[in-house]
Amino acid sequence: MSAATWWRSAVIYEVYPRSFADASSDGVGDLSGLRQRLDYVAALGVDGVWLTPIQRSPQVDQGYDISDYRDVDPLFGDLDELDALLAEAHARGLRVLLDIVPNHTSTQNPAFQAALDAGPGSPERDLFHFRDSPHGPNVPPNNWVSVFGGPAWHRANPGSTTDQQWYLHLFSPAQPDWNWDNPAVTEHFDQILRFWFDRSVDGMRIDVAHGLFKAPGLPDSPAVPTVIDGLRSNPLAMDQEAVHEVYRRWRKLAEEYDPPRLLVGEVNLEPDRAARYTRPDEMHQCFAFAFARLGWDAAAWVDAGHRLEQGRSESGAEPGWAVENHDLVRVVSRYGGGDRGVRRARAALVALLGLPGAVYLYQGQELGLPEVDVSLAKRADPMWASGGVSRDGARIPLPWTVSTSGAHGFTTDGVEPWLPVPEGWGELSVERQNGDPSSSLTLTRHALALRKELYGSGVLSAHDKGAWEHRPDGSVVCSRTSGVQVMVAMGDQPVALPDGELLLASAPLTTDGHLPPDTAAWVRSRD
Ligand code: GLC
Repeated sequence: MSAATWWRSAVIYEVYPRSFADASSDGVGDLSGLRQRLDYVAALGVDGVWLTPIQRSPQVDQGYDISDYRDVDPLFGDLDELDALLAEAHARGLRVLLDIVPNHTSTQNPAFQAALDAGPGSPERDLFHFRDSPHGPNVPPNNWVSVFGGPAWHRANPGSTTDQQWYLHLFSPAQPDWNWDNPAVTEHFDQILRFWFDRSVDGMRIDVAHGLFKAPGLPDSPAVPTVIDGLRSNPLAMDQEAVHEVYRRWRKLAEEYDPPRLLVGEVNLEPDRAARYTRPDEMHQCFAFAFARLGWDAAAWVDAGHRLEQGRSESGAEPGWAVENHDLVRVVSRYGGGDRGVRRARAALVALLGLPGAVYLYQGQELGLPEVDVSLAKRADPMWASGGVSRDGARIPLPWTVSTSGAHGFTTDGVEPWLPVPEGWGELSVERQNGDPSSSLTLTRHALALRKELYGSGVLSAHDKGAWEHRPDGSVVCSRTSGVQVMVAMGDQPVALPDGELLLASAPLTTDGHLPPDTAAWVRSRD
């Protein structure tokens, strides 16, 4: 695959740095910890990593509230440490994507502090959405609901009689939204992108990429959106036409670099709308959210598969397949939990890696980690306090060792990790799964190696299209134009495999050669 199009069939491993490996012994993972474990990542066989935000932040939303976009938070290290990580990753053939958060910043950003000080009507306030309310000082300017729960507005100076303005925050009150109608914001983000791209960062995952612009005049929303779904159900707060111009600009900027830098969007929209973000002059790729949100449901998989393939034929961009990330419930649990959940999670992993497009794996997915029920007192997600939903259960520190010491090798012995690790976590550890032929880790490594080989030898092509079917036997099949079929047995009976050579299965076949329930396989047709 040429350097210019490597991303079309890449496999990227999402690192949630807080929970990956802690070298500084403060209970929170860091860049140094990641550097020490880079060989592990490289040995998985992925093409690169995406790091969730490591920029300077008060960490109210675990880093998605950035106060200085051009620095590394001391919690994770510093710029030198990042440079070292980049060099070491590149030496291993791994690309590194960072996370950029353009929809909102942190109340601790000096620009926001200056806006608070400068008062109503000032140019400083015009960088954000400050408004007087037509309903008086005690009722927000409109009825928008924050994605994290509660009104999307907060008083700038609560209690003040001279400054009765409110500011808009689609997420927590600690995350004020930028005003993208102000050209200074556009300029600021150009500089941020250049800052990281100049440092040889290979690309950016763009947070809430379909946000940024709001409907002119910020009118009331006709239907009051529900928490969490807020971003999708409030069309006035997202997916505005003007946002596309930003990505056209960023694409040009990314292509000034050699090799061109990659733009991957978190565009949490239905496939037809999401596809518009990956038109040839916009971002390169976005996550296949219509797929990521699903349970173990054959009809829904096929429907999402069709719609994503349709979107792709319009935009020319392959989906970025994903079923897990730091915001979603781990699939072992989402698909039913227990042994069955594990089988299905392994099947989903094999299925994903067989589909045409790029794949985003979330740390711990290779170990088959389940969602953890974090005790109420320990929940750290701001969404928990305001919206009653906690994403902490998917963010538990990775278990490296069987021994409980240092929270199973995540940190130093005696240090309490930022989220508690549950009993028995060591049984899922890298140490336990390493070398075990039946482990999820071994399956992941094997599937990634085979995928690389099949692309390398031309059996699979990055340009393959996929045709989806829901068969009467309950299976889901995606047939690639190159002749490889991905089959997932989603019914309750074993199913006959398509004719051809079995390349990989997520579990052993039945004695009569059928694909058992909750299992996925890749089959190459004989020509
Ligand atoms: C994205 C992130 C999520 C964060 C939110 C606000 O959805 O993935 O973790 O809370 O944006 O930045």
